[in-house]
Amino acid sequence: MSGYVLAIDQGTTSSRAIVFDDRFRVVGLGQEEFRQHLPRSGWVEHDPEEIWRTTLSTMRSALAYSSLSASDLAAIGIANQRETTVLWDRRTGLPIHNAIVWQDRRTSEMCRRLVAEGTEPEITARTGLIVDPYFAGTKIAWLLDNVEGARRLAEDGHLAFGTIDSFLLWRLTGGRVHATDTTNASRTMLFDIEANAWDADLLRLLDIPGAVLPEVRDCDADFGTTDPSLFGVAIPIRGVAGDQHAAAIGQACFRPGMVKATYGTGCFALLNTGSERVASGSRMLTTVGYRLAGRTTYALEGSIFVAGAAVQWLRDELRLISSAPESGPLAENADAEQDVVMVPAFTGLGAPWWDAEARGAIFGLTRRSGPRELARAALEATCFQTSDLLAAMRRDCPQASDTVLRVDGGMVASDWTMQRLSDLLDAPVDRPVVLETTALGAAWIAGQKAGVWPGMDGFAEQWRLERRFEPGMEGAERARRLGLWEDAVRRTRSTF
Ligand code: G3P
Repeated sequence: MSGYVLAIDQGTTSSRAIVFDDRFRVVGLGQEEFRQHLPRSGWVEHDPEEIWRTTLSTMRSALAYSSLSASDLAAIGIANQRETTVLWDRRTGLPIHNAIVWQDRRTSEMCRRLVAEGTEPEITARTGLIVDPYFAGTKIAWLLDNVEGARRLAEDGHLAFGTIDSFLLWRLTGGRVHATDTTNASRTMLFDIEANAWDADLLRLLDIPGAVLPEVRDCDADFGTTDPSLFGVAIPIRGVAGDQHAAAIGQACFRPGMVKATYGTGCFALLNTGSERVASGSRMLTTVGYRLAGRTTYALEGSIFVAGAAVQWLRDELRLISSAPESGPLAENADAEQDVVMVPAFTGLGAPWWDAEARGAIFGLTRRSGPRELARAALEATCFQTSDLLAAMRRDCPQASDTVLRVDGGMVASDWTMQRLSDLLDAPVDRPVVLETTALGAAWIAGQKAGVWPGMDGFAEQWRLERRFEPGMEGAERARRLGLWEDAVRRTRSTF
């Protein structure tokens, strides 16, 4: 059998498909952006049909680019934006509403109520999560309560819930498979990560009928085959993982203590804690890192909602730059005398603050502040936030104390940003040769399951360092800058 594997990387702003050969090289690529719907402040939606259309067409483009045909593919792996919630009618396959995106804050009042009722400790104990609108549970509840007729349909067994992986699986298999994987399930606030099962008490608490839920399988399970009407043949789907989990796999973070950070729309750092579930004392998330061949590997996660999105904001709203790569050179030439600090809390603050009501702020502007200082502030905000995450992880887990951060995602192309990151973390930052780690991780799960790619050790050996950034900032300057950030966050939070 051939060693070609196609990975779907369905992200927050674009759908991508990549074909890899059995030496993990990219031989085909398709990418399409799609619309972000922002109906109200703090609300973010996607059209599931557009997600489906762009996924399908990027799969076709990737195949065309590689000059392969669908029958050359050994398997498909799926990585997806997590938490984004879709409800569809099982009878028609049609969504009953736009997807509510992970960034959406519309359920913050519901979350506040849950916390006020004292439910958070139990929810955290079972799911590893904080009570926050970020996760799928309250989004499902909102849809059932606000879309006319939805609750009735759900109670009658006609509605299906899925994060994007499930929705794509349903469509790819022609409605034959309604499933998800453990990593995606672990982001719903409805899943017991110890028992590896949906939690009936939490379903009751949020008033969600169990009939809407997908079956939960391991990341490397058999997820069925594509409907032959789509590609002419039935292609096996053998891997599913949330994109951040797939990236941790693509970065070969297989040993406890290894940590990766992916800089896309947001930034998500995952620390492998092995078979041990580490409870955080610092408001980090305890989550399923991955589950392969019946064994769960846990992770501590720090989630930042805005990373690359701040650069997009400079480009699209302020129009200070015409493309993202311009931000690094601008930042490099910023005035060292000015301490402009940006807290990009456009959709609230994630870990470790979890403040859904906070909104962005910029401090320290002078009459001489301009595009250069704003570009530096946007890029540096990502570094400051990563530093908050790693500090929290180090408090929670001694294994994280002398770790090297493996980075990937669009922003890591900026040498200036990576150097500043290393300076502020006071730790080395490793940028790998292969930056398509999310797609590679999904491809590896499927490829090894299909028996055409090597196992974990063989895969880990292929990871190659492109450049290591070593910290070079004076301790006093680091402390001063971190102090500025801390002060800016304090002044931005909705509650002091
Ligand atoms: O939890 C949200 C995350 O999975 C989104 O990732 O890469 O689409 O920004 P990304």
